[in-house]
Amino acid sequence: ANALHVGIAGLGTVGASVVRVLATKAAELTRQCGQPIMVTAVSARDRSRDRGVDLGSAKWFEDPIELAKSADIDVFVELIGGDEGAARAAVTAALESGKHVVTANKALLAKHGVALAEIAEEKGVLLNYEAAVAGGIPVIKTMRESMAGNTVSRVFGILNGTCNYILTRMEAEGISFEECLKDAQRLGYAEADPTFDIEGNDTAHKLAILTSLAFGSRIAADEVYMEGISNITQADIRAAADLGYRIKLLGVAQQTDSGIEQRVHPTMVPTASVIAQVHGVTNAVAIETDILGELLLSGPGAGGNATASAVVGDIADIAKSQPGFQHGPVFGRPAKKLTPYKKAE
Ligand code: HSE
Repeated sequence: ANALHVGIAGLGTVGASVVRVLATKAAELTRQCGQPIMVTAVSARDRSRDRGVDLGSAKWFEDPIELAKSADIDVFVELIGGDEGAARAAVTAALESGKHVVTANKALLAKHGVALAEIAEEKGVLLNYEAAVAGGIPVIKTMRESMAGNTVSRVFGILNGTCNYILTRMEAEGISFEECLKDAQRLGYAEADPTFDIEGNDTAHKLAILTSLAFGSRIAADEVYMEGISNITQADIRAAADLGYRIKLLGVAQQTDSGIEQRVHPTMVPTASVIAQVHGVTNAVAIETDILGELLLSGPGAGGNATASAVVGDIADIAKSQPGFQHGPVFGRPAKKLTPYKKAE
Protein backbone atom coordinates (compact mmCIF):
# COMPACT_ATOMS: atom_id res chain seq x y z
CA ALA A 1 0.00 0.00 0.00
CA ASN A 2 0.99 3.61 -0.40
CA ALA A 3 2.18 5.66 2.55
CA LEU A 4 2.92 9.32 3.16
CA HIS A 5 6.59 9.74 4.03
CA VAL A 6 7.27 12.46 6.56
CA GLY A 7 10.56 14.07 7.53
CA ILE A 8 10.71 15.98 10.79
CA ALA A 9 13.39 18.59 11.51
CA GLY A 10 13.58 19.63 15.15
CA LEU A 11 12.85 17.23 17.98
CA GLY A 12 12.16 19.52 20.90
CA THR A 13 8.93 19.53 22.91
CA VAL A 14 6.72 19.79 19.84
CA GLY A 15 8.74 17.50 17.56
CA ALA A 16 8.83 14.71 20.15
CA SER A 17 5.07 15.09 20.71
CA VAL A 18 4.41 14.87 16.97
CA VAL A 19 6.44 11.65 16.72
CA ARG A 20 4.55 10.24 19.72
CA VAL A 21 1.09 11.16 18.39
CA LEU A 22 1.84 9.79 14.92
CA ALA A 23 2.91 6.49 16.53
CA THR A 24 0.15 6.09 19.11
CA LYS A 25 -2.60 7.20 16.69
CA ALA A 26 -1.21 5.37 13.64
CA ALA A 27 -4.21 3.06 13.16
CA GLU A 28 -6.72 5.87 13.57
CA LEU A 29 -4.81 8.15 11.19
CA THR A 30 -4.52 5.40 8.58
CA ARG A 31 -8.29 4.93 8.72
CA GLN A 32 -8.95 8.65 8.44
CA CYS A 33 -6.38 9.38 5.72
CA GLY A 34 -6.69 6.23 3.65
CA GLN A 35 -2.95 5.62 3.91
CA PRO A 36 -0.38 5.32 6.69
CA ILE A 37 1.69 8.33 7.73
CA MET A 38 5.28 7.23 8.30
CA VAL A 39 8.15 9.22 9.79
CA THR A 40 10.93 8.14 7.47
CA ALA A 41 13.56 10.73 8.34
CA VAL A 42 14.46 13.08 11.17
CA SER A 43 16.99 15.74 11.99
CA ALA A 44 17.90 17.48 15.23
CA ARG A 45 20.92 19.08 16.83
CA ASP A 46 21.85 16.37 19.29
CA ARG A 47 21.57 12.79 18.13
CA SER A 48 22.39 11.22 21.49
CA ARG A 49 19.73 13.01 23.53
CA ASP A 50 16.98 10.80 24.96
CA ARG A 51 13.65 12.30 23.91
CA GLY A 52 11.52 9.50 25.28
CA VAL A 53 10.22 8.62 21.82
CA ASP A 54 10.90 5.74 19.48
CA LEU A 55 12.30 7.03 16.21
CA GLY A 56 12.04 3.53 14.73
CA SER A 57 13.98 3.11 11.52
CA ALA A 58 13.79 6.81 10.59
CA LYS A 59 16.92 7.90 8.77
CA TRP A 60 18.99 10.45 10.70
CA PHE A 61 20.15 13.61 8.93
CA GLU A 62 22.75 15.89 10.47
CA ASP A 63 21.70 18.68 8.14
CA PRO A 64 18.00 19.66 8.01
CA ILE A 65 18.50 21.12 4.52
CA GLU A 66 19.62 17.72 3.25
CA LEU A 67 16.56 16.20 4.91
CA ALA A 68 14.33 18.83 3.30
CA LYS A 69 15.58 17.90 -0.18
CA SER A 70 15.74 14.17 0.41
CA ALA A 71 13.87 11.70 -1.79
CA ASP A 72 13.02 9.82 1.42
CA ILE A 73 10.17 12.22 2.19
CA ASP A 74 6.94 13.63 0.70
CA VAL A 75 6.34 16.15 3.48
CA PHE A 76 8.86 18.28 5.36
CA VAL A 77 7.84 19.20 8.91
CA GLU A 78 9.83 22.17 10.20
CA LEU A 79 9.97 22.43 13.99
CA ILE A 80 13.41 24.00 14.28
CA GLY A 81 12.26 27.56 15.01
CA GLY A 82 13.86 30.91 14.30
CA ASP A 83 13.19 33.30 11.46
CA GLU A 84 16.46 32.77 9.59
CA GLY A 85 19.20 30.16 9.43
CA ALA A 86 18.38 26.49 9.16
CA ALA A 87 14.60 26.85 9.39
CA ARG A 88 14.32 29.33 6.54
CA ALA A 89 16.86 27.55 4.35
CA ALA A 90 15.30 24.13 4.92
CA VAL A 91 11.70 25.25 4.29
CA THR A 92 12.83 27.05 1.13
CA ALA A 93 14.73 23.96 -0.05
CA ALA A 94 11.76 21.68 0.62
CA LEU A 95 9.32 23.91 -1.28
CA GLU A 96 11.78 24.41 -4.16
CA SER A 97 12.12 20.66 -4.48
CA GLY A 98 8.34 20.28 -4.69
CA LYS A 99 7.66 18.97 -1.20
CA HIS A 100 4.75 19.93 0.99
CA VAL A 101 5.74 21.75 4.17
CA VAL A 102 4.16 21.82 7.60
CA THR A 103 5.56 24.34 10.04
CA ALA A 104 4.78 25.70 13.51
CA ASN A 105 7.23 28.55 13.01
CA LYS A 106 5.41 31.85 13.50
CA ALA A 107 8.62 33.91 13.53
CA LEU A 108 9.60 32.54 10.12
CA LEU A 109 6.14 33.11 8.64
CA ALA A 110 5.86 36.59 10.13
CA LYS A 111 9.06 37.57 8.35
CA HIS A 112 9.14 35.45 5.19
CA GLY A 113 5.66 33.94 4.94
CA VAL A 114 4.61 35.74 1.78
CA ALA A 115 7.82 34.88 -0.08
CA LEU A 116 7.51 31.24 1.00
CA ALA A 117 3.83 31.21 -0.01
CA GLU A 118 4.83 32.41 -3.48
CA ILE A 119 7.19 29.46 -3.86
CA ALA A 120 4.59 26.98 -2.57
CA GLU A 121 1.92 28.33 -4.90
CA GLU A 122 4.26 28.30 -7.87
CA LYS A 123 5.23 24.69 -7.15
CA GLY A 124 1.66 23.60 -6.41
CA VAL A 125 2.48 22.25 -2.95
CA LEU A 126 0.96 22.93 0.43
CA LEU A 127 2.48 25.14 3.10
CA ASN A 128 0.42 24.37 6.19
CA TYR A 129 0.92 26.30 9.42
CA GLU A 130 -2.06 25.74 11.70
CA ALA A 131 0.26 25.21 14.69
CA ALA A 132 1.97 28.57 14.21
CA VAL A 133 -0.89 30.61 15.70
CA ALA A 134 -2.66 29.88 18.99
CA GLY A 135 -1.34 26.32 19.33
CA GLY A 136 -4.09 23.76 18.98
CA ILE A 137 -6.88 26.23 18.08
CA PRO A 138 -7.89 25.74 14.43
CA VAL A 139 -7.87 29.45 13.64
CA ILE A 140 -5.95 29.41 10.34
CA LYS A 141 -8.33 27.14 8.50
CA THR A 142 -11.27 28.93 10.08
CA MET A 143 -10.14 32.29 8.78
CA ARG A 144 -8.76 31.03 5.48
CA GLU A 145 -11.47 28.65 4.40
CA SER A 146 -14.56 28.78 6.57
CA MET A 147 -15.07 32.54 6.55
CA ALA A 148 -14.89 33.24 2.82
CA GLY A 149 -17.04 36.21 1.84
CA ASN A 150 -16.83 37.79 5.28
CA THR A 151 -15.28 41.22 5.63
CA VAL A 152 -13.30 41.27 8.87
CA SER A 153 -13.23 44.51 10.85
CA ARG A 154 -11.22 43.35 13.85
CA VAL A 155 -9.31 40.34 15.12
CA PHE A 156 -7.91 40.20 18.63
CA GLY A 157 -7.07 37.81 21.38
CA ILE A 158 -4.76 36.10 23.81
CA LEU A 159 -2.12 34.57 21.57
CA ASN A 160 0.68 33.65 23.96
CA GLY A 161 0.15 30.78 26.39
CA THR A 162 3.23 31.57 28.46
CA CYS A 163 2.11 35.13 29.23
CA ASN A 164 -1.44 34.11 30.02
CA TYR A 165 -0.16 31.33 32.27
CA ILE A 166 2.08 33.81 34.12
CA LEU A 167 -0.64 36.46 34.53
CA THR A 168 -3.18 33.87 35.66
CA ARG A 169 -0.95 32.40 38.35
CA MET A 170 0.33 35.77 39.52
CA GLU A 171 -3.28 36.80 40.12
CA ALA A 172 -4.69 33.55 41.50
CA GLU A 173 -1.78 32.46 43.65
CA GLY A 174 0.21 35.62 44.26
CA ILE A 175 3.35 33.94 42.89
CA SER A 176 6.18 36.05 41.50
CA PHE A 177 6.65 36.68 37.80
CA GLU A 178 10.00 34.86 37.77
CA GLU A 179 8.67 31.71 39.39
CA CYS A 180 5.70 31.53 37.00
CA LEU A 181 8.02 31.96 34.02
CA LYS A 182 10.24 29.13 35.24
CA ASP A 183 7.22 26.83 35.47
CA ALA A 184 6.07 27.83 31.98
CA GLN A 185 9.52 26.90 30.68
CA ARG A 186 9.51 23.59 32.56
CA LEU A 187 6.08 22.74 31.12
CA GLY A 188 7.33 23.34 27.57
CA TYR A 189 5.17 26.42 26.89
CA ALA A 190 7.86 29.06 26.52
CA GLU A 191 9.99 29.84 23.49
CA ALA A 192 13.66 28.78 23.45
CA ASP A 193 14.33 32.45 24.25
CA PRO A 194 11.48 33.38 26.62
CA THR A 195 11.98 37.11 26.09
CA PHE A 196 10.04 36.50 22.85
CA ASP A 197 7.07 35.50 25.00
CA ILE A 198 7.22 38.09 27.73
CA GLU A 199 8.19 41.08 25.57
CA GLY A 200 5.35 40.45 23.13
CA ASN A 201 7.32 39.40 20.00
CA ASP A 202 5.62 36.00 19.83
CA THR A 203 2.18 37.59 20.08
CA ALA A 204 3.20 40.13 17.42
CA HIS A 205 4.31 37.37 15.04
CA LYS A 206 1.02 35.51 15.43
CA LEU A 207 -1.03 38.70 15.17
CA ALA A 208 0.74 39.72 11.95
CA ILE A 209 -0.21 36.38 10.38
CA LEU A 210 -3.84 36.77 11.47
CA THR A 211 -3.86 40.34 10.13
CA SER A 212 -2.89 39.10 6.69
CA LEU A 213 -5.64 36.48 6.73
CA ALA A 214 -8.16 39.01 8.05
CA PHE A 215 -7.47 41.87 5.64
CA GLY A 216 -5.77 40.25 2.65
CA SER A 217 -2.67 42.37 3.19
CA ARG A 218 0.98 41.40 3.10
CA ILE A 219 2.38 40.38 6.47
CA ALA A 220 3.87 43.35 8.36
CA ALA A 221 5.16 42.16 11.72
CA ASP A 222 7.50 45.16 11.99
CA GLU A 223 4.49 47.48 12.04
CA VAL A 224 3.07 45.99 15.25
CA TYR A 225 3.20 48.32 18.25
CA MET A 226 4.57 46.11 21.02
CA GLU A 227 4.71 46.16 24.78
CA GLY A 228 5.17 43.00 26.86
CA ILE A 229 4.34 41.94 30.40
CA SER A 230 7.78 41.96 32.01
CA ASN A 231 6.99 45.14 33.95
CA ILE A 232 3.66 43.92 35.33
CA THR A 233 3.79 43.65 39.11
CA GLN A 234 1.57 42.14 41.79
CA ALA A 235 0.57 45.71 42.66
CA ASP A 236 -0.67 46.30 39.08
CA ILE A 237 -2.71 43.10 39.17
CA ARG A 238 -4.24 44.00 42.57
CA ALA A 239 -5.03 47.55 41.46
CA ALA A 240 -6.79 46.24 38.33
CA ALA A 241 -8.73 43.70 40.42
CA ASP A 242 -9.90 46.43 42.82
CA LEU A 243 -11.41 48.24 39.84
CA GLY A 244 -13.07 45.09 38.48
CA TYR A 245 -10.48 44.28 35.81
CA ARG A 246 -7.94 41.63 34.88
CA ILE A 247 -4.72 42.27 33.00
CA LYS A 248 -4.32 40.27 29.79
CA LEU A 249 -1.71 40.50 27.07
CA LEU A 250 -3.79 41.12 23.97
CA GLY A 251 -2.92 41.30 20.30
CA VAL A 252 -5.34 43.52 18.39
CA ALA A 253 -5.59 44.20 14.65
CA GLN A 254 -8.25 46.41 13.19
CA GLN A 255 -9.18 48.16 10.02
CA THR A 256 -9.43 51.94 10.47
CA ASP A 257 -10.31 54.69 8.01
CA SER A 258 -6.62 55.40 7.43
CA GLY A 259 -5.29 51.84 7.35
CA ILE A 260 -4.56 48.85 9.56
CA GLU A 261 -3.72 49.15 13.22
CA GLN A 262 -1.77 46.33 14.91
CA ARG A 263 -0.85 46.39 18.57
CA VAL A 264 0.25 44.12 21.38
CA HIS A 265 0.13 45.31 24.98
CA PRO A 266 -1.14 44.45 28.47
CA THR A 267 -4.81 45.39 28.57
CA MET A 268 -7.30 45.80 31.43
CA VAL A 269 -10.34 43.70 30.59
CA PRO A 270 -13.53 43.69 32.73
CA THR A 271 -13.45 40.67 35.06
CA ALA A 272 -16.91 39.63 33.86
CA SER A 273 -15.93 39.62 30.15
CA VAL A 274 -15.42 36.36 28.28
CA ILE A 275 -11.79 37.17 27.50
CA ALA A 276 -11.11 37.57 31.25
CA GLN A 277 -12.26 33.98 31.79
CA VAL A 278 -9.48 32.62 29.59
CA HIS A 279 -7.10 31.14 32.13
CA GLY A 280 -3.65 29.60 32.15
CA VAL A 281 -2.05 28.38 28.93
CA THR A 282 -5.38 28.74 27.10
CA ASN A 283 -5.52 31.11 24.13
CA ALA A 284 -8.54 32.86 22.63
CA VAL A 285 -9.12 34.55 19.29
CA ALA A 286 -12.07 36.85 18.60
CA ILE A 287 -12.95 37.73 15.01
CA GLU A 288 -15.53 40.37 14.09
CA THR A 289 -17.06 40.33 10.63
CA ASP A 290 -20.03 41.74 8.74
CA ILE A 291 -21.77 38.45 7.95
CA LEU A 292 -20.87 36.27 10.88
CA GLY A 293 -20.84 38.82 13.68
CA GLU A 294 -18.42 37.91 16.45
CA LEU A 295 -16.70 34.56 16.58
CA LEU A 296 -14.68 33.45 19.60
CA LEU A 297 -12.38 30.46 19.53
CA SER A 298 -10.55 29.31 22.61
CA GLY A 299 -8.40 26.35 23.53
CA PRO A 300 -4.91 25.12 24.43
CA GLY A 301 -2.41 27.64 23.09
CA ALA A 302 0.97 26.06 23.78
CA GLY A 303 2.66 22.86 24.86
CA GLY A 304 3.66 19.65 23.14
CA ASN A 305 0.31 17.93 22.69
CA ALA A 306 -1.75 21.00 21.75
CA THR A 307 0.77 22.04 19.15
CA ALA A 308 1.27 18.46 17.92
CA SER A 309 -2.49 18.18 17.40
CA ALA A 310 -2.38 21.03 14.89
CA VAL A 311 0.80 19.73 13.21
CA VAL A 312 -0.67 16.24 12.83
CA GLY A 313 -3.88 17.76 11.42
CA ASP A 314 -1.80 19.60 8.82
CA ILE A 315 0.06 16.41 7.89
CA ALA A 316 -3.22 14.48 7.65
CA ASP A 317 -4.58 17.16 5.27
CA ILE A 318 -1.72 16.38 2.94
CA ALA A 319 -2.21 12.63 3.31
CA LYS A 320 -5.85 13.10 2.29
CA SER A 321 -5.20 15.40 -0.67
CA GLN A 322 -5.46 13.72 -4.05
CA PRO A 323 -2.72 13.89 -6.69
CA GLY A 324 -3.48 16.61 -9.23
CA PHE A 325 -5.78 18.39 -6.80
CA GLN A 326 -5.28 22.15 -6.94
CA HIS A 327 -4.53 23.51 -3.50
CA GLY A 328 -5.92 26.79 -2.24
CA PRO A 329 -3.55 29.68 -1.63
CA VAL A 330 -1.49 29.78 1.57
CA PHE A 331 -2.83 33.06 2.95
CA GLY A 332 -6.35 32.79 1.59
CA ARG A 333 -5.67 34.63 -1.67
CA PRO A 334 -2.71 34.24 -4.03
CA ALA A 335 0.47 35.58 -2.41
CA LYS A 336 1.07 37.87 -5.41
CA LYS A 337 -2.41 39.37 -4.94
CA LEU A 338 -2.02 40.31 -1.27
CA THR A 339 -2.37 44.07 -1.00
CA PRO A 340 0.50 46.23 0.29
CA TYR A 341 0.22 46.78 4.03
CA LYS A 342 -1.11 50.24 4.85
CA LYS A 343 -0.50 51.32 8.39
CA ALA A 344 -3.10 53.35 10.26
CA GLU A 345 -2.05 56.94 10.95
N1 HSE B 1 5.73 30.14 23.44
C1 HSE B 1 4.47 30.07 22.78
C2 HSE B 1 3.37 30.41 23.79
C3 HSE B 1 4.28 28.70 22.21
O1 HSE B 1 3.65 30.45 24.98
O2 HSE B 1 2.25 30.66 23.39
C4 HSE B 1 3.12 28.56 21.29
O3 HSE B 1 3.32 29.26 20.09
